[in-house]
Amino acid sequence: NTALLPACALEMVHSYSLIHDDLPCMDDDDMRRGKPSSHKKFDEATAVLAGDGLLTLAFETLTSDESVNLLGHKKALECVKVLSKGAGEYGMIGGQTIDVCYENKSLTKEQHSNMVAMKTGALIKAAVHCGCICAGADDIQTSLALDFAEKMGSAFQMTDDLLDAVGEQELMGKPTQSDLEHNKNTYISLYGVEETALMSSNKHTEAVAVLKQLCPENELLLYMTNMLSKRKY
Ligand code: IPE
Ligand code: MG
Ligand code: MG
Ligand code: MG
Repeated sequence: NTALLPACALEMVHSYSLIHDDLPCMDDDDMRRGKPSSHKKFDEATAVLAGDGLLTLAFETLTSDESVNLLGHKKALECVKVLSKGAGEYGMIGGQTIDVCYENKSLTKEQHSNMVAMKTGALIKAAVHCGCICAGADDIQTSLALDFAEKMGSAFQMTDDLLDAVGEQELMGKPTQSDLEHNKNTYISLYGVEETALMSSNKHTEAVAVLKQLCPENELLLYMTNMLSKRKY
């Protein structure tokens, strides 16, 4: 499977982003997936270093001999480009920076939606984009796939914010009300619970429509998209 190593690299960046996101200097959350966060289980220095290690390992993985043999130089390099952009200053890190810097200050709806596109959307888009690169998708397929990723990314964060506000902590395995406690700009703070639920469901419908256009036969992606929208954790 040519996409396996890029998929692993993506998951390394994802895991690192969560380890750092939970740190006391960021969201200060002590639980993740029902277990103590890294800085709780170990200590802050270990959590920072584990994140740094995972981020570095992602690019070591993408550029490994095995990856280059499977993908060829061109596709491997394209994945490096896409992942570094999605994870970086104008992607996830940029979004996380706005998220943290604007605690206790309000963003406009437009600024907030831009922040979500960066902190959450960019990595999801990068994952989908790397999939397209590995599969040799053409420009039309890639642009549909990115449109799907963008819609799924916003639906994902809408549900995430919703669950932070009204979800059950035991099911979620991470603290609820964390956003409120930190005075974050969220879909809930800007639109309220009911409107966010409606927006999330609409975004999900839009994402599914694009997916059906892109690959009407692909049940796995459809299942995953539906699961993300119905999730309780
Ligand atoms: C974090 O968003 C997005 C990342 C880039 C890690 P949140 O801070 O809302 O994510 P959770 O709720 O801690 O999982
Ligand atoms: Mg956060
Ligand atoms: Mg968080
Ligand atoms: Mg959250």
